[in-house]
Amino acid sequence: TTPLNVAAKAAGKKYFGSATDNHELTDSTYVEILSDSNMFGQITPGNSLKWDATEPSRGNFTFTQGDQIVNLAKANGQLLRGHNCVWHNQLPSWVTSGNFSADTLSSIITTHCGTVVGRYQGQICFWDVVNEPLNDDGTLRSDVFYDTLGEEYISIALRAAKAADPDAKLYINDYGIEGTGPKSTGMVNLVKSLKAASVPIDGIGMQAHLIVGQVPSTLGDNIKQFTALGVEVAITELDLRMTLPATDADLAQQKEDYQRVISTCNAISGCIGVTIWDYTDKYSWVPATFSGQGAALPWDENFNKKPAYDGIVAGF
Ligand code: XIL
Repeated sequence: TTPLNVAAKAAGKKYFGSATDNHELTDSTYVEILSDSNMFGQITPGNSLKWDATEPSRGNFTFTQGDQIVNLAKANGQLLRGHNCVWHNQLPSWVTSGNFSADTLSSIITTHCGTVVGRYQGQICFWDVVNEPLNDDGTLRSDVFYDTLGEEYISIALRAAKAADPDAKLYINDYGIEGTGPKSTGMVNLVKSLKAASVPIDGIGMQAHLIVGQVPSTLGDNIKQFTALGVEVAITELDLRMTLPATDADLAQQKEDYQRVISTCNAISGCIGVTIWDYTDKYSWVPATFSGQGAALPWDENFNKKPAYDGIVAGF
């Protein structure tokens, strides 16, 4: 069967990719599959570029873990997606509990985004600069950044990232924006408002943590309403979870669903690539987060390809 990045490139996409995480890199079977650039043309560090990992105390930057994954991708000839600069989760308490003034928090964001993006200037071509800024109703989420600075925090982060790496594609990334609805409308309005203010924004990332049997029927229309804004779209964290134990029928439906997501992106030229949120059920984030659910990825926990794998190939 065709390797996934080969299939994606043959279809005119920039890559097919996978997230990974540092502690998985001691598993040699895992690393061998991950390192095949015909299979994965792009890698996203799942945790090691987040704020708690990169600036655990103010002004103290640590890149050991980030470097490990960046260096692996470089050695393998794989593109990188940076994840992420500003997010309400995995944020050290010095940021959340600092009671900073607007001016101070603004400079903290500028320093953080500028330093992290700048560290990998020319090496990380896509960046989730702002992660999960929206509520389900399409308004901006209340967190330390919004509560202190309002919508302005988003432009501060994007401008700092742009200054640090003018060639990187800068994204806003969120979940629950796969189908049309209030949250997707909120994303449209946010991007319009940023563009109107000449804030650098290149792309919208759709996380796509989906449930088997529930791929939104409006996925294609929604991707098109995003690309119509003049930005690119990437599917950044795809997985399709199910209630365990997985039956053959579930796995067959999952294959269909993977195929549907891929073929929908494939048909839209502004949808540039797809990343799965790790590739094997052995290291999926799903079971720890959604109790009783799992089996969300195209390889099982023993590194056997599931029907979903063929669904992906068929989708391109
Ligand atoms: C998850 C990681 O995969 C886990 O290892 C970690 O414990 C929590 O975060 N949306 C995102 C990702 O943008 O950063 C999250 O990653 C999954 C949901």
